[in-house]
Amino acid sequence: MHDDFDQPPLRCGTDSLKWQRYGSALPLWVADMDFTAPQAVLDALHERVAHGVFGYGAPPDDLTTTLIERLANLYNWQVDPEQIVYLPGLVCGLNVVCRAVGSPGDEVLVQTPVYPPFLTAPGNQDRRLFTTELSTEHRDGQLYYRFDDARIAAEIGSRTQLFILCHPHNPIGREFDLEELKRLANLCEHFDLVVCSDEIHCDLLLNGQRHIPFATLSPEIAQRCITLMAPSKTFNIAGLGASFAIIQNPALRRRFKQAMQGIVPDVNILALQATLAAYRHGGDWLRELLPYLAANRDYLVDYIARQLPGVLTTAPDATYLAWLDCRNAGIPGNPHEFFLKQAGVALNDGAAFGPGGTGFVRLNFGCSRAMLTEGLERMRQALCERG
Ligand SMILES: Cc1ncc(COP(=O)(O)O)c(C=O)c1O
Repeated sequence: MHDDFDQPPLRCGTDSLKWQRYGSALPLWVADMDFTAPQAVLDALHERVAHGVFGYGAPPDDLTTTLIERLANLYNWQVDPEQIVYLPGLVCGLNVVCRAVGSPGDEVLVQTPVYPPFLTAPGNQDRRLFTTELSTEHRDGQLYYRFDDARIAAEIGSRTQLFILCHPHNPIGREFDLEELKRLANLCEHFDLVVCSDEIHCDLLLNGQRHIPFATLSPEIAQRCITLMAPSKTFNIAGLGASFAIIQNPALRRRFKQAMQGIVPDVNILALQATLAAYRHGGDWLRELLPYLAANRDYLVDYIARQLPGVLTTAPDATYLAWLDCRNAGIPGNPHEFFLKQAGVALNDGAAFGPGGTGFVRLNFGCSRAMLTEGLERMRQALCERG
């Protein structure tokens, strides 16, 4: 096992959003791991910096080739170079999609609870947000979420143009299965919707399963799909800002590029080199990371079941994010505030994730086991002391 995962560098005083926002509280919130990026990424960045000239850049040809080979090898997905559009961030991509699909006043549908920028992107671009809640059930004492076609269909109206999918899903930490994806594909075809599939967490599958890009379900679905991917979560390089869209329908791609014009900057030259190095040489690092995250997940699920009475958690099979239902934990008021003030642990407030999120918190377990243990122990103590 990679020693660095147990002993990541200190991040206090390094201008880290995660470590700065909540002062001295233990930060288990924003989706940013504490681990050093793969050595190959560091080497590539050092080499680029040593060159010393930082003029305008362009995506290296071998980056596009590397992405295409990767998509073919992992998913048997044949993508042409012109179908890849580089972006300086995935949230930027979500906003561009909302701007590119339909017209002002048209409706965008998302399933909640969900990563908050899904809820704001439609309004930012003069579209109307419609939400539908995922179904919840309890399985073996844990929280489990799944698709609900009936609820989705009930929200689709004549002005619904776009469905934004989060796959794997943040915050519920699930890779949707083939059967669920096919049901969604049928709905989108039936109602003639464009699908934007945010697959930023697609490399972080914790149970050895294989990711299924939504666009690979069928050639028809590929024509109505905009896929967004990035190396940022996988290799912990979110601060560099690099992602890409795969758009196989030429008309959709044209609209997307038009919506970017004059607003979306090029990806910076360091991010491009880091992305290339990560995808080319980061495989071994990732193969060591995944079992570390899975072991953290197992530890967390077990700890919560035994030590945090009234708290229910998902057992994520993807991402490094756990979603905790605190509604029956006897917490006075908002659980995010409670754990921040009483435990000194900073989590994400579930209320920000839309309908179905109030009374929940999201916990990031992409940290050392020691830090996770400390955070959970503080939460246990605060619950014990709440009286
Ligand atoms: C589902 C999802 N999409 C997008 C992002 C952010 O992407 P970026 O930092 O590239 O804007 C995150 C970060 O947590 C995420 O979880």
